Amino acid sequence: MSKFIQALRGIKSEQPPIWMMRQAGRYLPEYRKLREGHSMLEMVMTPELACEVTLQPLRRFPLDAAIIFADILTPLIGMGVRLEFKKGEGPVIENPVRNAKDVEALRVTDPRESVAYTLDAIKLVVRELGGRTPLIGFCGAPFTLACYLIEGQSPGDLEHTKSIMVGQPKVWDALQSKLATLSADYLVAQVEAGCQSLQIFDSWLGYVGPREYDRFVEPYLRRLIEEVKRRVDVPVVFFATSVTGLFPRLSKLPVDAFGVDWRVSLTQARGLLGRSTPLQGNLDPQILTGPWEYIEESARAILDEARELPSHIFNLGHGILPHTPVENVERLVALVGSYRA
Ligand code: CP3
Repeated sequence: MSKFIQALRGIKSEQPPIWMMRQAGRYLPEYRKLREGHSMLEMVMTPELACEVTLQPLRRFPLDAAIIFADILTPLIGMGVRLEFKKGEGPVIENPVRNAKDVEALRVTDPRESVAYTLDAIKLVVRELGGRTPLIGFCGAPFTLACYLIEGQSPGDLEHTKSIMVGQPKVWDALQSKLATLSADYLVAQVEAGCQSLQIFDSWLGYVGPREYDRFVEPYLRRLIEEVKRRVDVPVVFFATSVTGLFPRLSKLPVDAFGVDWRVSLTQARGLLGRSTPLQGNLDPQILTGPWEYIEESARAILDEARELPSHIFNLGHGILPHTPVENVERLVALVGSYRA
Protein backbone atom coordinates (compact mmCIF):
# COMPACT_ATOMS: atom_id res chain seq x y z
CA MET A 1 0.00 0.00 0.00
CA SER A 2 1.32 3.47 -0.81
CA LYS A 3 2.20 5.89 1.99
CA PHE A 4 -0.71 8.12 0.98
CA ILE A 5 -3.40 5.41 1.05
CA GLN A 6 -1.90 4.04 4.26
CA ALA A 7 -2.20 7.45 5.94
CA LEU A 8 -5.81 7.79 4.76
CA ARG A 9 -6.53 4.40 6.31
CA GLY A 10 -5.16 5.72 9.59
CA ILE A 11 -1.83 3.91 9.46
CA LYS A 12 1.04 6.14 10.48
CA SER A 13 4.39 5.97 8.75
CA GLU A 14 7.66 7.56 9.81
CA GLN A 15 7.36 10.13 7.04
CA PRO A 16 4.06 11.78 6.23
CA PRO A 17 3.02 11.66 2.56
CA ILE A 18 2.75 14.97 0.72
CA TRP A 19 0.73 16.32 -2.21
CA MET A 20 -0.60 19.81 -2.89
CA MET A 21 -4.02 21.03 -3.91
CA ARG A 22 -3.78 22.56 -7.42
CA GLN A 23 -0.33 21.02 -7.77
CA ALA A 24 -0.85 21.11 -11.54
CA GLY A 25 -1.29 24.71 -12.54
CA ARG A 26 -0.06 28.14 -13.35
CA TYR A 27 2.96 28.29 -10.98
CA LEU A 28 4.62 25.73 -13.31
CA PRO A 29 6.25 27.20 -16.45
CA GLU A 30 5.52 24.01 -18.40
CA TYR A 31 1.81 24.37 -17.54
CA ARG A 32 1.77 28.02 -18.66
CA LYS A 33 3.48 27.05 -21.90
CA LEU A 34 0.88 24.41 -22.75
CA ARG A 35 -1.90 26.74 -21.61
CA GLU A 36 -0.77 29.42 -24.13
CA GLY A 37 -2.04 27.23 -26.96
CA HIS A 38 -5.25 25.93 -25.33
CA SER A 39 -8.15 27.14 -23.23
CA MET A 40 -8.69 25.68 -19.76
CA LEU A 41 -11.66 23.65 -21.06
CA GLU A 42 -9.68 22.35 -24.04
CA MET A 43 -7.02 21.13 -21.65
CA VAL A 44 -9.59 19.34 -19.46
CA MET A 45 -11.49 17.90 -22.42
CA THR A 46 -8.48 16.52 -24.30
CA PRO A 47 -7.40 13.36 -22.44
CA GLU A 48 -3.78 13.55 -23.66
CA LEU A 49 -3.42 17.16 -22.46
CA ALA A 50 -5.16 16.50 -19.14
CA CYS A 51 -2.88 13.49 -18.62
CA GLU A 52 0.22 15.52 -19.44
CA VAL A 53 -0.73 18.34 -17.05
CA THR A 54 -1.56 15.86 -14.25
CA LEU A 55 1.92 14.37 -14.58
CA GLN A 56 3.87 17.64 -14.82
CA PRO A 57 4.28 18.23 -11.06
CA LEU A 58 5.21 14.56 -10.52
CA ARG A 59 8.10 14.83 -12.95
CA ARG A 60 9.55 17.66 -10.90
CA PHE A 61 8.85 16.63 -7.32
CA PRO A 62 8.63 13.28 -5.49
CA LEU A 63 4.96 13.74 -4.58
CA ASP A 64 3.01 10.91 -2.94
CA ALA A 65 -0.20 11.39 -4.93
CA ALA A 66 -1.40 12.73 -8.27
CA ILE A 67 -4.75 14.48 -8.74
CA ILE A 68 -6.53 14.26 -12.06
CA PHE A 69 -6.57 17.51 -14.01
CA ALA A 70 -10.19 18.64 -14.29
CA ASP A 71 -12.34 21.11 -12.40
CA ILE A 72 -15.20 20.75 -9.93
CA LEU A 73 -17.38 22.62 -12.45
CA THR A 74 -16.68 20.62 -15.63
CA PRO A 75 -19.25 17.85 -14.88
CA LEU A 76 -21.94 20.56 -14.93
CA ILE A 77 -21.45 21.01 -18.67
CA GLY A 78 -23.09 17.61 -19.26
CA MET A 79 -26.16 18.87 -17.36
CA GLY A 80 -26.69 21.56 -19.98
CA VAL A 81 -24.79 24.33 -18.18
CA ARG A 82 -22.88 26.80 -20.37
CA LEU A 83 -19.56 27.21 -18.52
CA GLU A 84 -16.56 29.30 -19.43
CA PHE A 85 -13.31 30.12 -17.64
CA LYS A 86 -12.67 33.79 -18.29
CA LYS A 87 -9.27 35.37 -17.88
CA GLY A 88 -9.09 37.35 -14.66
CA GLU A 89 -12.69 36.46 -13.74
CA GLY A 90 -12.61 32.73 -13.18
CA PRO A 91 -15.59 30.53 -13.97
CA VAL A 92 -18.70 32.12 -15.48
CA ILE A 93 -22.02 30.34 -16.12
CA GLU A 94 -24.09 31.92 -18.87
CA ASN A 95 -27.38 30.31 -17.81
CA PRO A 96 -27.49 30.39 -13.98
CA VAL A 97 -30.14 28.38 -12.16
CA ARG A 98 -32.74 30.57 -10.44
CA ASN A 99 -36.12 28.77 -10.41
CA ALA A 100 -37.91 25.41 -10.54
CA LYS A 101 -37.88 25.32 -14.35
CA ASP A 102 -34.11 25.86 -14.47
CA VAL A 103 -33.59 22.98 -12.03
CA GLU A 104 -35.90 20.72 -13.99
CA ALA A 105 -33.94 21.41 -17.17
CA LEU A 106 -30.70 20.10 -15.61
CA ARG A 107 -29.93 16.61 -16.91
CA VAL A 108 -28.19 13.93 -14.86
CA THR A 109 -26.65 11.63 -17.44
CA ASP A 110 -24.24 8.71 -17.38
CA PRO A 111 -20.76 10.09 -16.57
CA ARG A 112 -19.30 7.55 -19.01
CA GLU A 113 -20.87 9.71 -21.71
CA SER A 114 -20.93 13.22 -20.24
CA VAL A 115 -17.38 13.23 -18.79
CA ALA A 116 -15.82 10.50 -20.91
CA TYR A 117 -12.87 12.86 -21.49
CA THR A 118 -11.93 12.92 -17.77
CA LEU A 119 -12.43 9.16 -17.40
CA ASP A 120 -10.19 8.60 -20.45
CA ALA A 121 -7.59 10.98 -18.96
CA ILE A 122 -7.67 8.95 -15.72
CA LYS A 123 -7.00 5.73 -17.66
CA LEU A 124 -4.01 7.34 -19.40
CA VAL A 125 -2.57 8.69 -16.12
CA VAL A 126 -3.01 5.37 -14.30
CA ARG A 127 -1.19 3.60 -17.12
CA GLU A 128 1.68 6.12 -16.99
CA LEU A 129 1.97 5.93 -13.21
CA GLY A 130 2.14 2.13 -13.39
CA GLY A 131 0.93 1.72 -9.80
CA ARG A 132 3.83 3.75 -8.35
CA THR A 133 1.75 6.73 -7.27
CA PRO A 134 -1.95 6.75 -6.38
CA LEU A 135 -4.31 8.99 -8.33
CA ILE A 136 -6.95 11.14 -6.62
CA GLY A 137 -10.34 11.67 -8.25
CA PHE A 138 -12.54 14.50 -7.03
CA CYS A 139 -15.82 16.37 -7.22
CA GLY A 140 -17.48 19.47 -5.87
CA ALA A 141 -19.92 18.96 -2.98
CA PRO A 142 -23.59 19.60 -3.85
CA PHE A 143 -23.60 22.82 -1.80
CA THR A 144 -20.56 24.41 -3.47
CA LEU A 145 -21.72 23.33 -6.94
CA ALA A 146 -25.10 24.96 -6.24
CA CYS A 147 -23.36 28.20 -5.22
CA TYR A 148 -21.68 28.46 -8.65
CA LEU A 149 -24.78 27.27 -10.53
CA ILE A 150 -27.05 29.81 -8.85
CA GLU A 151 -24.71 32.82 -8.68
CA GLY A 152 -23.32 32.11 -12.16
CA GLN A 153 -19.88 33.41 -11.16
CA SER A 154 -17.65 33.56 -8.11
CA PRO A 155 -20.28 33.13 -5.37
CA GLY A 156 -19.45 36.34 -3.42
CA ASP A 157 -21.76 36.60 -0.41
CA LEU A 158 -24.20 33.99 -1.79
CA GLU A 159 -27.07 36.46 -2.25
CA HIS A 160 -29.10 34.38 -4.73
CA THR A 161 -28.07 31.03 -3.27
CA LYS A 162 -29.34 31.80 0.23
CA SER A 163 -32.46 33.44 -1.10
CA ILE A 164 -33.40 30.24 -2.96
CA MET A 165 -32.34 28.07 -0.05
CA VAL A 166 -34.65 29.68 2.48
CA GLY A 167 -37.24 31.22 0.13
CA GLN A 168 -37.80 28.32 -2.28
CA PRO A 169 -36.78 25.25 -0.25
CA LYS A 170 -38.45 22.85 -2.72
CA VAL A 171 -36.34 24.24 -5.57
CA TRP A 172 -33.26 24.00 -3.36
CA ASP A 173 -34.00 20.38 -2.40
CA ALA A 174 -34.59 19.37 -6.02
CA LEU A 175 -31.31 20.98 -7.08
CA GLN A 176 -29.35 19.40 -4.21
CA SER A 177 -30.82 15.98 -5.04
CA LYS A 178 -29.69 16.22 -8.65
CA LEU A 179 -26.22 17.42 -7.66
CA ALA A 180 -25.79 14.65 -5.08
CA THR A 181 -26.65 12.05 -7.74
CA LEU A 182 -24.39 13.70 -10.32
CA SER A 183 -21.41 13.81 -7.95
CA ALA A 184 -21.93 10.28 -6.62
CA ASP A 185 -22.06 8.80 -10.13
CA TYR A 186 -19.05 10.91 -11.13
CA LEU A 187 -16.91 9.78 -8.17
CA VAL A 188 -17.81 6.13 -8.68
CA ALA A 189 -16.96 6.39 -12.41
CA GLN A 190 -13.56 7.91 -11.53
CA VAL A 191 -12.79 4.93 -9.26
CA GLU A 192 -13.92 2.52 -11.98
CA ALA A 193 -11.55 4.30 -14.37
CA GLY A 194 -8.65 3.76 -11.94
CA CYS A 195 -8.56 6.40 -9.16
CA GLN A 196 -7.42 5.00 -5.81
CA SER A 197 -8.83 7.73 -3.58
CA LEU A 198 -11.36 10.56 -3.73
CA GLN A 199 -11.63 14.10 -2.44
CA ILE A 200 -14.82 16.13 -2.08
CA PHE A 201 -14.33 19.92 -2.27
CA ASP A 202 -16.84 22.08 -0.41
CA SER A 203 -15.00 25.38 -0.79
CA TRP A 204 -17.96 27.67 0.05
CA LEU A 205 -19.34 25.77 3.02
CA GLY A 206 -17.79 28.29 5.43
CA TYR A 207 -20.53 30.74 4.47
CA VAL A 208 -23.38 28.81 6.10
CA GLY A 209 -24.30 28.66 9.74
CA PRO A 210 -24.98 25.46 11.69
CA ARG A 211 -28.80 25.60 11.35
CA GLU A 212 -28.66 25.94 7.59
CA TYR A 213 -25.98 23.25 7.42
CA ASP A 214 -28.26 20.82 9.25
CA ARG A 215 -31.32 21.56 7.15
CA PHE A 216 -30.04 22.45 3.67
CA VAL A 217 -26.57 20.96 3.30
CA GLU A 218 -25.94 17.87 5.44
CA PRO A 219 -28.65 15.56 4.08
CA TYR A 220 -27.33 15.83 0.51
CA LEU A 221 -23.66 15.74 1.44
CA ARG A 222 -24.36 12.62 3.50
CA ARG A 223 -26.35 11.04 0.67
CA LEU A 224 -23.43 11.63 -1.72
CA ILE A 225 -20.85 10.11 0.64
CA GLU A 226 -23.01 7.14 1.64
CA GLU A 227 -23.83 6.36 -1.98
CA VAL A 228 -20.13 6.40 -2.93
CA LYS A 229 -19.18 4.30 0.10
CA ARG A 230 -21.86 1.77 -0.78
CA ARG A 231 -20.55 1.37 -4.33
CA VAL A 232 -16.75 1.61 -4.10
CA ASP A 233 -14.10 0.92 -1.46
CA VAL A 234 -11.55 3.72 -1.61
CA PRO A 235 -10.69 6.34 1.04
CA VAL A 236 -12.62 9.61 0.81
CA VAL A 237 -11.29 12.99 2.00
CA PHE A 238 -13.60 15.90 2.74
CA PHE A 239 -12.15 19.39 2.29
CA ALA A 240 -13.70 22.76 3.11
CA THR A 241 -12.36 26.10 4.37
CA SER A 242 -13.41 28.37 7.25
CA VAL A 243 -15.53 25.63 8.78
CA THR A 244 -13.99 25.24 12.24
CA GLY A 245 -17.39 26.05 13.79
CA LEU A 246 -18.93 23.18 11.80
CA PHE A 247 -16.23 20.60 12.71
CA PRO A 248 -18.28 18.89 15.43
CA ARG A 249 -21.03 18.35 12.84
CA LEU A 250 -18.72 17.43 9.95
CA SER A 251 -17.03 14.81 12.13
CA LYS A 252 -20.24 12.73 11.87
CA LEU A 253 -19.86 12.34 8.09
CA PRO A 254 -18.70 8.85 7.04
CA VAL A 255 -15.47 10.04 5.38
CA ASP A 256 -11.95 8.71 6.01
CA ALA A 257 -10.07 11.98 6.46
CA PHE A 258 -10.51 15.74 6.58
CA GLY A 259 -8.59 18.43 4.74
CA VAL A 260 -7.90 21.31 7.13
CA ASP A 261 -7.25 24.93 6.15
CA TRP A 262 -4.64 27.16 7.84
CA ARG A 263 -7.12 29.13 9.95
CA VAL A 264 -7.11 26.39 12.58
CA SER A 265 -4.27 24.38 14.12
CA LEU A 266 -4.14 20.64 13.46
CA THR A 267 -4.33 20.13 17.23
CA GLN A 268 -7.57 22.06 17.54
CA ALA A 269 -8.96 20.38 14.42
CA ARG A 270 -8.18 17.00 15.97
CA GLY A 271 -10.01 17.95 19.14
CA LEU A 272 -13.11 19.03 17.24
CA LEU A 273 -13.12 16.33 14.55
CA GLY A 274 -12.26 13.38 16.75
CA ARG A 275 -9.15 11.65 17.93
CA SER A 276 -8.99 8.87 15.37
CA THR A 277 -9.44 10.87 12.14
CA PRO A 278 -6.50 11.29 9.75
CA LEU A 279 -5.98 14.95 8.84
CA GLN A 280 -4.59 16.55 5.69
CA GLY A 281 -3.05 20.02 5.66
CA ASN A 282 -2.44 22.79 6.45
CA LEU A 283 0.28 25.24 5.36
CA ASP A 284 -1.05 28.65 4.31
CA PRO A 285 -0.47 28.78 0.51
CA GLN A 286 0.43 32.47 0.81
CA ILE A 287 3.29 31.55 3.17
CA LEU A 288 4.65 29.21 0.49
CA THR A 289 5.20 32.26 -1.75
CA GLY A 290 7.50 33.96 0.81
CA PRO A 291 10.97 33.62 2.31
CA TRP A 292 12.27 30.04 2.74
CA GLU A 293 13.24 30.49 6.40
CA TYR A 294 9.64 31.21 7.35
CA ILE A 295 8.29 28.39 5.16
CA GLU A 296 10.66 25.95 6.81
CA GLU A 297 9.72 27.05 10.31
CA SER A 298 5.99 26.81 9.51
CA ALA A 299 6.27 23.41 7.81
CA ARG A 300 8.29 22.00 10.74
CA ALA A 301 5.71 23.32 13.19
CA ILE A 302 2.97 21.48 11.26
CA LEU A 303 5.03 18.28 11.08
CA ASP A 304 5.81 18.41 14.81
CA GLU A 305 2.18 19.03 15.67
CA ALA A 306 1.11 16.16 13.42
CA ARG A 307 3.16 13.65 15.44
CA GLU A 308 0.23 13.58 17.86
CA LEU A 309 -2.27 12.75 15.10
CA PRO A 310 -3.41 9.22 14.20
CA SER A 311 -1.98 9.96 10.76
CA HIS A 312 -1.22 13.01 8.65
CA ILE A 313 -0.97 13.91 4.98
CA PHE A 314 1.04 17.06 4.42
CA ASN A 315 -0.75 19.55 2.14
CA LEU A 316 -1.52 23.22 1.86
CA GLY A 317 -4.54 24.73 3.57
CA HIS A 318 -5.99 25.58 0.11
CA GLY A 319 -4.81 25.53 -3.51
CA ILE A 320 -1.27 26.56 -4.44
CA LEU A 321 -1.14 30.15 -5.72
CA PRO A 322 -0.02 31.03 -9.26
CA HIS A 323 2.82 33.30 -8.03
CA THR A 324 4.43 30.56 -5.91
CA PRO A 325 8.14 30.14 -6.77
CA VAL A 326 8.77 26.60 -8.05
CA GLU A 327 11.90 26.47 -5.91
CA ASN A 328 9.84 26.85 -2.73
CA VAL A 329 7.68 23.89 -3.72
CA GLU A 330 10.78 21.83 -4.47
CA ARG A 331 12.35 22.64 -1.10
CA LEU A 332 9.09 22.00 0.79
CA VAL A 333 8.64 18.54 -0.77
CA ALA A 334 12.27 17.72 0.08
CA LEU A 335 11.85 18.95 3.66
CA VAL A 336 8.75 16.83 4.27
CA GLY A 337 10.46 13.87 2.56
CA SER A 338 13.43 14.03 4.94
CA TYR A 339 11.39 14.51 8.12
CA ARG A 340 11.40 11.70 10.64
CA ALA A 341 8.42 11.61 12.99
O1 CP3 B 1 -4.12 20.05 -9.54
C1 CP3 B 1 -5.27 20.01 -9.09
O2 CP3 B 1 -5.57 20.36 -7.92
C2 CP3 B 1 -6.37 19.41 -9.95
C3 CP3 B 1 -7.19 20.27 -10.69
C4 CP3 B 1 -8.18 21.23 -10.03
C5 CP3 B 1 -8.54 22.46 -10.65
N1 CP3 B 1 -9.56 23.00 -9.96
C6 CP3 B 1 -7.93 23.00 -11.87
C7 CP3 B 1 -8.06 24.44 -12.18
C8 CP3 B 1 -8.99 21.08 -8.89
C9 CP3 B 1 -9.00 19.99 -7.84
C10 CP3 B 1 -9.88 22.21 -8.87
C11 CP3 B 1 -10.91 22.39 -7.84
C12 CP3 B 1 -11.73 23.61 -7.84
N2 CP3 B 1 -12.11 24.40 -8.91
C13 CP3 B 1 -12.35 24.16 -6.68
C14 CP3 B 1 -12.25 23.56 -5.29
C15 CP3 B 1 -10.99 23.92 -4.62
C16 CP3 B 1 -10.80 25.38 -4.33
O3 CP3 B 1 -9.86 25.96 -4.92
O4 CP3 B 1 -11.57 25.92 -3.56
C17 CP3 B 1 -13.06 25.30 -7.07
C18 CP3 B 1 -13.87 26.22 -6.18
C19 CP3 B 1 -12.91 25.44 -8.49
C20 CP3 B 1 -13.53 26.47 -9.37
C21 CP3 B 1 -12.52 27.24 -10.12
N3 CP3 B 1 -11.77 26.75 -11.17
C22 CP3 B 1 -12.17 28.60 -9.92
C23 CP3 B 1 -12.77 29.52 -8.86
C24 CP3 B 1 -11.21 28.90 -10.89
C25 CP3 B 1 -10.63 30.26 -11.17
C26 CP3 B 1 -9.68 30.68 -10.14
C27 CP3 B 1 -8.31 30.28 -10.53
O5 CP3 B 1 -7.59 29.72 -9.72
O6 CP3 B 1 -7.98 30.59 -11.69
C28 CP3 B 1 -10.93 27.72 -11.63
C29 CP3 B 1 -9.95 27.55 -12.73
C30 CP3 B 1 -8.94 26.47 -12.58
N4 CP3 B 1 -9.21 25.20 -12.16
C31 CP3 B 1 -7.56 26.55 -12.92
C32 CP3 B 1 -7.01 25.28 -12.67
C33 CP3 B 1 -5.60 24.83 -12.90
C34 CP3 B 1 -6.86 27.74 -13.52
C35 CP3 B 1 -7.06 27.61 -15.00
C36 CP3 B 1 -6.12 28.42 -15.83
O7 CP3 B 1 -6.43 29.58 -16.10
O8 CP3 B 1 -5.10 27.86 -16.30
